[in-house]
Amino acid sequence: MDLKQSINKNNIPQHIAIVMDGNGRWAKQHGEDRIFGHHEGVNSVREIVEACGEIGVKYLTLYAFSTENWNRPKDEVDSLMELLVSTISMETPNLNKKGVKLQAIGDIKSLPESCQRELQESIDITSKNDTVTLILALSYSSKWEITNAVQQIAKQVEAGKLKASEITAKHIEQNLTTSKFPDPELMIRTSGEHRISNFLLWQLAYTEFYFTDILWPDFRKDEFFKAIISFQSRERRFGKTSEQISTN
Ligand code: FPP
Repeated sequence: MDLKQSINKNNIPQHIAIVMDGNGRWAKQHGEDRIFGHHEGVNSVREIVEACGEIGVKYLTLYAFSTENWNRPKDEVDSLMELLVSTISMETPNLNKKGVKLQAIGDIKSLPESCQRELQESIDITSKNDTVTLILALSYSSKWEITNAVQQIAKQVEAGKLKASEITAKHIEQNLTTSKFPDPELMIRTSGEHRISNFLLWQLAYTEFYFTDILWPDFRKDEFFKAIISFQSRERRFGKTSEQISTN
């Protein structure tokens, strides 16, 4: 069956967020070092970005490196940073050709300078594109992001620009690193883990979750299309009743 043909083109999530998990286990299964799994994971990234362009997903956020990932063995952290630099550098012409705009969220200043430079260059080169916005979450965690937002808002209160009683959800959203993007409608996590792991805690308030046992390096277009078909079979109620939804 051609899964792509089964997708309803009128109900494509405009923003999908993915926790790309299972690279290490995939490498182990293949008798290789963990970094081999991350390298293979880049091939999945390429396919999924391409698939987004094919079916009209406008935003794709990938959890590429969490705040907690800094605690991994130094060798693995260094290899991941090198992989990021080489991947961004090598893939930018391809992203540009496909109309992909690159963006990043997270504590970007904590990344090695070479990584920041490569990232900024690619963001600049692809800034005019509008087919798909690819958002890399790098040195990202929600608790870091929300703490930052609270500090920014507290500064406005201290400066007398805002009263504490006037703070709304809008103020918080405006101070998150995702303020330019809509909330994801679908969050996918691979490798059989059923956790959020400090990822977009605020933004996923009404998001549909899709969990699969497939390891990230094996998560290719058809697996992605299955996730979208699953999303399309769900009724999103946003706290309302089923009857309210069907009469809207
Ligand atoms: C989780 O698998 C994966 C990561 C922490 C890194 C993901 C990074 C990539 C796929 C490279 C991305 C590159 C770009 C340019 C976006 P794991 O190591 O936790 O796997 P395990 O749970 O099996 O050990």
